[in-house]
Amino acid sequence: MSLEDEKTNYLGMMSVGKKGRICMEREWISEVYDKILAKEKKVAERNRSKIPYTTKDGVFDDKGKTEICWWTNGFWGGMMWQLYHATKEPVYLENALRTEIRLDENLMNRQGMDHDSGFKWMPTSVAHYHLTGDMASRNRALLAADNLAGRFNPVGRFIRAWNNWDGNEDGSFAGRAIIDCMMNLPLLYWAGDELHDPKFYHIAKMHADTAMNYFIREDGSAKHIIEFNAETGEYLHSVGGQGYGHGSSWTRGQAWAVYGFILSYIHTKQERYLETSKKVADYFIANIPESKLIPVDFRQPETPAYEDSTAAAIVSCGLLELAKYVPENEKSKYKDAALEMLKALADKRCNWDENVDNLVEKCTAAYHDPEHEFSIIYGDYYFIEAIWKLMDKELFIW
Ligand code: GLY
Repeated sequence: MSLEDEKTNYLGMMSVGKKGRICMEREWISEVYDKILAKEKKVAERNRSKIPYTTKDGVFDDKGKTEICWWTNGFWGGMMWQLYHATKEPVYLENALRTEIRLDENLMNRQGMDHDSGFKWMPTSVAHYHLTGDMASRNRALLAADNLAGRFNPVGRFIRAWNNWDGNEDGSFAGRAIIDCMMNLPLLYWAGDELHDPKFYHIAKMHADTAMNYFIREDGSAKHIIEFNAETGEYLHSVGGQGYGHGSSWTRGQAWAVYGFILSYIHTKQERYLETSKKVADYFIANIPESKLIPVDFRQPETPAYEDSTAAAIVSCGLLELAKYVPENEKSKYKDAALEMLKALADKRCNWDENVDNLVEKCTAAYHDPEHEFSIIYGDYYFIEAIWKLMDKELFIW
């Protein structure tokens, strides 16, 4: 037996051969996959007309009723499409179609249209169009892409993140860009391909270059929010955001950077985006705690130390994609890190009770919010997407 064969397995404490390790890995992934299917069928059946964000006493809310323009409203539809793609069960298709139509109210509301259009219309309309060629879905996604492209500031070469929260535009939000937007660029790449219009690629690449140059620090960590002078394009300063504070390292932001830059590489084949994804991934991996459970911020104080399972699920998706594009000898570094975090989520943070609606627990929207460590729909979405990648069941929507 070689040294490699004797390596301690990351799935348990026992020492097993390489073949045995791969076998155990496949067995574990397939068990998790089956458990997801068993649970989600029941969840989908009892939540047919909702667009959930979180749970109260194990029951999904309906964010579609209270805030139809909320940035997470595409993830439930995305889960339904991933589940439908894998199983062809009609309940998932019906729920996905309902969600997509409900989002039309958002598409007709300019104030509710911001940089998050990728998160809303890729898992819903683009997924639908990929699977069935539905032209109404294509139209919705193209309208969203046009709006996203219209947020581009050509002097600063960035996509404006948000509108003024209260709708009274006084210019104060015009210069704000955020790292999360890297995940919305695939909507532009998709529209560019659909319309054979390179404009969408130019905008996406200019934003990605700005993000690479201004958001990514020397040590590989990513800032969350940057303020530019919207008039001149000049860099002004960075702003705290959803992590611990200015200069900190919000883990979901790091995850958006890892996944977002590798997606830009996949669509453009520009090496600099692959290198940037790797740089942030290496920083992330170096900071993963012993428990493999991810804090809200890598630079948060010892107390209160909040967790964010969504960061673990999102970065795992990014690392699994990254592993496909690095040289052979670097692949295991990224894949193993993803497997370790997913294993920790499955064992310690997934609620497998079929009577409880959410799957992933201990998710946190922002460090300074009054509430922490609850269920959030994109935790479920990205956990499922990661397991689907490992099972070769994914409908690739980004
Ligand atoms: N895109 C917002 C967030 O990650 O919370």
